[in-house]
Amino acid sequence: MSNIERGSFTTKIGVIAATVGAAVGLGNIWKFPYTAGVNGGGAFILVYLVCVLFLGLPILLSEFFMGRKTGQNPKGAFRSLSNQKGWQFFGVLCLICPILILSFYSVVAGWTAEYFWQALTGGLEGKNTAELTALFQGFSQDPVRPIIWLLVFLGLTVGVTLGGIKNGIERVSNILMPVLFLLLIILAAHSLSLDGAKEGLSFMFKPDFSKINAKVILDAMGQAFFSLSVGLGALITYASYFKKDTNLPQTGMIVAALDTMVAIIAGVIIFPIVFTYGISPAQGPDLVFIALPNVFNQMIGGQIWAIAFFLLLAIAALTSTISMSEIVVTYLAEEHKFSRKKALAILFAICGTLGILCSLSFGALSHLKLFDKNIFSLIDFTASNVLLPIGGGAIAVFVGWFVNKHIIYEEMQQGSKMKRSFFAVYYYVLKYIAPIGLLLILLSQAGII
Ligand code: TRP
Repeated sequence: MSNIERGSFTTKIGVIAATVGAAVGLGNIWKFPYTAGVNGGGAFILVYLVCVLFLGLPILLSEFFMGRKTGQNPKGAFRSLSNQKGWQFFGVLCLICPILILSFYSVVAGWTAEYFWQALTGGLEGKNTAELTALFQGFSQDPVRPIIWLLVFLGLTVGVTLGGIKNGIERVSNILMPVLFLLLIILAAHSLSLDGAKEGLSFMFKPDFSKINAKVILDAMGQAFFSLSVGLGALITYASYFKKDTNLPQTGMIVAALDTMVAIIAGVIIFPIVFTYGISPAQGPDLVFIALPNVFNQMIGGQIWAIAFFLLLAIAALTSTISMSEIVVTYLAEEHKFSRKKALAILFAICGTLGILCSLSFGALSHLKLFDKNIFSLIDFTASNVLLPIGGGAIAVFVGWFVNKHIIYEEMQQGSKMKRSFFAVYYYVLKYIAPIGLLLILLSQAGII
C-alpha cells in the first residue's frame, strides 16, 4: 500500500504526549487568553467549556475511531468505511487544510522563536511600551528576518517528522511535553503570587452572563475546534498509529482535559500579570508580543520569566506543527506512494512559499487584500473558520449517520472498559447535537443568521 513503514506509537505515555502535543499549541497559550480577554473573560470561558464537551470531544473521539479502525490516512479512512465516493472529498480537504494552517501558523511560530532569542540575548530588556511596539512592528514587517525564522521553524518541523512516528514524533514529544508542563506550572505559580492575582482570577472565573452573545459563542466554538485540533484529520492520522490496546475513550478524555487545562493555566499566567500592571485584557493578538515583554521588564528577574515564557510558546508550537506535517506525509505516502523524504520536501516547498507570502503580508505585501483581509488573515480565516468546521461537521455526520453503530462500539471497546451508557451519550451528542451546533456556526459565519 505505501512506501513508508507504518510503525506505531510504542507506549501509552508516548501516545498521550504526542496527541496532547498536537492539541496544545499557540491556540492555547497565545490565542485563548486574548480571545477570552476580548470576549469578556468568565462568560467566554464557560461557553468554551460547553463547546469542548459537546462539540469538540465527540468529534475528537470519532476521529480516533476512524483512524484506529482503518489504520489509514484520512482519505483512506473515509474510503474504507464507506463505498460512497463523495466522502473522499473530505479526505482531500484533510490534505489541503493542514497545508494552509501550517503556512500561517509557522509565521507566528517563527515570531515566538525570535522573541525567545531576543529574551535570551537581552534584546527586550529595559524597553518601554513604545519601544516594544516599534520592535514588534519593525520585526513583523521586516522582509527578511521573520522569513528566516519561519523557514528555521519549518525546517525543524520537517526534521522531526522525517524521523517517523516512534523515533521522531514520539521521542521529541516525550521530552518536550514534560518541559512544557513544568514551565507552565512555574509561570502560573509566579503569577499567582502577584498583587493582581485575585482580580485576574475573578476576571476569568466569575462569568458575567450578560456578556454572552452570538459572537462570544461563535468565537468559543471556533477556538474549541482549533485548540483540540479536530476537523482536519490530524487525530485520524495520529490514531491510525495507535495500537489496538490503546484505550480510545480514556485517551480522548485525557487529551481534551489536558488541552483545556493548559488553556486555563495560560489564562492564570497572563491575567494576573495584566491586572497587576494595569494593561487591558482586551488588547488582542499583540498581548503576548508587546504587553507581556513590557510587564516582564517590570518584574524582578523579568528576563528569566521572558525566556521561560517564549520557550514555552515555541515548544507548544513545534509539537503542533509536527502534527500538521505528519498528516500530509502519511497522506502522500499512502495515497500517492511518496517516500517520507519526498513528501516532506514538497511540504517544505509549498508551506515555505505560502508562509513567506503570509509573512510579507504584514509588510511589503500589506496592500494586497481580498475581502478586506491580508494574505495571512485570509488563509487563517479560510482554514480555521470555514474549512475546519466543515471538516468537523463532515466527520460528525459521517460517523454519526453513515457508519454502522456496532462497528463504532466495537472499536471503542477495544482496549477499554467503556460503559454502554457512556457510548450512548457520546453517540447521541455526535449524531444530533454536534452537527446542529456546527451548522449554526457556519450559517452565522456566512451571515445567514
Ligand atoms: N491545536 C493546535 C493549537 O491549539 C493547532 C493545531 C495543531 C491544529 N494541529 C492541528 C488545529 C490540526 C487544527 C487541526 O495551537
